Amino acid sequence: MLLLAAAVFIGSQQCRPCHATVFDAYAETAMAQSSGRVEAIPPASFSAAGHRYQIANKKLIFPGGEATIDYFIGSNAAGRSYLREYEGYLFELPVTWYAQKQAWDASPGYEDHKEVHLTRAVEASCLQCHASRVRPVLGTQNRFGDPPFHENGVACERCHGPGSAHAHAPAKGNIVNPARLAPDRRDAVCSQCHLTGEARIERPGRKFAEFRAGDRLSDFATYFVSKLGRKDLKVTSHVEKLAASACKTGAGDALWCGTCHDPHTNADKSQPACQGCHQTAHRQQERCVTCHMPRSKAVDANHGVMTDHSIPKKPSRESQPRLESLTPFLGPADDRAFGLAYAELGDPRAAAYLSRAVPQDWPVQLRLAVLEPDPNRAAQLYESVLRANPYDPAALVNLGTHRIRQGRTLEAGSLWDRALLANPAIEEAVLNLTQIRPAKESIALLQKYLAINPVSRKALSRLAELRKAE
Ligand code: HEC
Ligand code: HEC
Ligand code: HEC
Ligand code: HEC
Ligand code: HEC
Ligand code: HEC
Ligand code: HEC
Repeated sequence: MLLLAAAVFIGSQQCRPCHATVFDAYAETAMAQSSGRVEAIPPASFSAAGHRYQIANKKLIFPGGEATIDYFIGSNAAGRSYLREYEGYLFELPVTWYAQKQAWDASPGYEDHKEVHLTRAVEASCLQCHASRVRPVLGTQNRFGDPPFHENGVACERCHGPGSAHAHAPAKGNIVNPARLAPDRRDAVCSQCHLTGEARIERPGRKFAEFRAGDRLSDFATYFVSKLGRKDLKVTSHVEKLAASACKTGAGDALWCGTCHDPHTNADKSQPACQGCHQTAHRQQERCVTCHMPRSKAVDANHGVMTDHSIPKKPSRESQPRLESLTPFLGPADDRAFGLAYAELGDPRAAAYLSRAVPQDWPVQLRLAVLEPDPNRAAQLYESVLRANPYDPAALVNLGTHRIRQGRTLEAGSLWDRALLANPAIEEAVLNLTQIRPAKESIALLQKYLAINPVSRKALSRLAELRKAE
């Protein structure tokens, strides 16, 4: 165990000389190919969410501007989304390729945008599931190193833990084999990416990004699912669905993801698995999952089709309204976790939990500040958030607004400047700054922002105003 603790990540390429068969098979899977730099992209012309787009020379072109297409997310099993880089900051592009439809369309969540939406920040958590050895720049919301991640897709060490000690002195026992772990640690290997529930709240002082294969998920985060369960399917709901199945309830720890999936080849082992446990069941000659694990649309993946992991007796197609109340998953939850989870979902039940939360650390203070009706008390909470987390964008923007009301213009300006270091596409900070800075400086600020978001109506009209006044 000491050796493991000291081990560092060395990259999948280092495993290849000794594990060539596994390496080559795994390279063909969707997980291995889940992200990377865009090398080339076929030209296209289409419209999505009411906007005309063209793709040419690795650029997305639209009326009023264009954006580079730099990284992809998604192997194309269901689809592929794209990221654009601006001075090291990553933004998700508004269009996605849908493999089943063989067509471009709006990215999930972008269906209703009136303007072409170019400023959605790609946070490290997105890349943590789709890429490996991700390199976020501290103190920013969406800036990354160059390259932003050292390995494309899900690398060997995401499921096997850091491999330096093992590669140095190869043996069983100095590298994680998920199949040999205690069930909760074994399941965590897959759940680190295949489980989000309704909310996933980091424990105080823990960083989810530091999770390693072999750890227990509940030491890093508290998970919540909807009390009544989801009837619909979500991209990351396989774990909770399986947990709710009669098979899992009945078979317990004997059943896990690895029972039906071979992670290195993605071979489907489900037929022998079903028959292994249900030797006397009907229809032994037929494919059980056709009826018992039907495929239907995922609610959050736009056109994606998913397999129902609740293994129902009778398949149902109707989807249900959201969220009754939250119930903890993978272990108990305290007031802090409940409060943060309800707050994340915009549910009014947050307030009471948050007021009782222990510790009242910065994530709690940030949520309380938003709920706080007294502006002076809200400002104190924001100050406190910024002492612990000096680049929190929401705290910077909101405290800046408060400083203006107090007549403390200089301080407001420096808070908004700082917000733009965390993420240069925070429109509110840019627009606010143009109200307090000299015209020339304001014009430069707007031009810089328009380089990221050339179709912003507010920025364009503010620029026109300032130019007219000049
Ligand atoms: C220098 C050769 C070498 C390198 C490099 C190497 N391995 Fe191994 N690996 C071995 C040998 C030898 C075994 C033991 C096989 C046995 O005893 O059956 C092994 C066993 C394993 C096992 C099974 C452990 C168990 O307890 O069942 C895993 C998992 C594994 N390696 C993963 C990796 C990964 C991931 C990498 C890259 C980070 C890697 N190996 C790099 C040689 C190597
Ligand atoms: C580091 C994150 C991560 C881990 C760990 C992980 N997965 Fe995945 N998995 C993904 C992502 C991301 C995809 C979607 C890949 C794509 O199509 O782009 C995926 C896709 C899959 C698929 C669908 C494959 C296909 O061909 O469409 C299966 C099955 C799967 N994972 C099983 C597992 C199992 C079993 C484990 C644990 C042994 C596991 N995953 C661990 C992130 C992860
Ligand atoms: C908690 C982990 C997690 C996070 C965070 C996450 N994803 Fe995924 N994503 C997955 C898994 C797991 C799948 C595969 C689901 C499946 O195959 O059913 C997936 C599937 C996809 C797919 C379809 C891939 C394919 O080829 O079929 C795209 C595109 C995608 N995600 C984009 C994104 C983007 C963009 C972000 C961030 C803005 C993101 N995801 C954040 C886990 C995650
Ligand atoms: C998505 C998770 C995942 C990824 C990624 C992954 N493995 Fe594995 N690996 C497993 C699991 C689970 C087992 C245990 C399989 C079993 O015994 O049921 C395993 C077992 C092994 C073993 C020992 C037994 C065997 O099947 O040979 C070796 C060696 C190994 N993996 C090497 C690698 C290498 C090398 C890579 C990268 C090319 C890799 N693995 C990527 C999940 C993963
Ligand atoms: C590790 C053992 C195991 C595996 C693998 C397994 N099951 Fe089960 N399954 C059970 C147990 C235990 C029960 C609950 C007792 C019972 O009904 O036999 C159950 C229950 C069921 C039920 C009844 C569901 C209900 O709502 O009452 C169905 C249907 C079912 N399984 C189908 C399948 C299919 C199809 C597969 C393969 C995709 C499968 N099972 C794989 C152990 C397993
Ligand atoms: C009882 C068997 C069984 C178990 C256990 C199981 N799966 Fe699956 N899974 C399937 C089948 C069958 C499919 C559909 C495969 C196909 O059509 O190629 C599937 C498909 C998937 C997909 C692809 C997207 C989709 O929904 O079709 C992902 C991702 C996935 N499983 C993840 C997991 C994870 C994570 C676990 C563990 C929590 C798990 N599975 C446990 C049988 C199982
Ligand atoms: C053509 C569709 C279909 C296929 C294929 C199928 N089943 Fe079923 N199965 C059903 C339906 C429908 C029910 C519910 C029947 C009922 O309630 O009378 C059911 C019920 C079950 C039950 C619960 C029985 C009980 O008394 O509660 C199990 C276990 C089961 N199936 C296992 C399997 C296994 C294992 C396979 C593959 C070897 C399989 N089924 C193939 C449609 C199918």
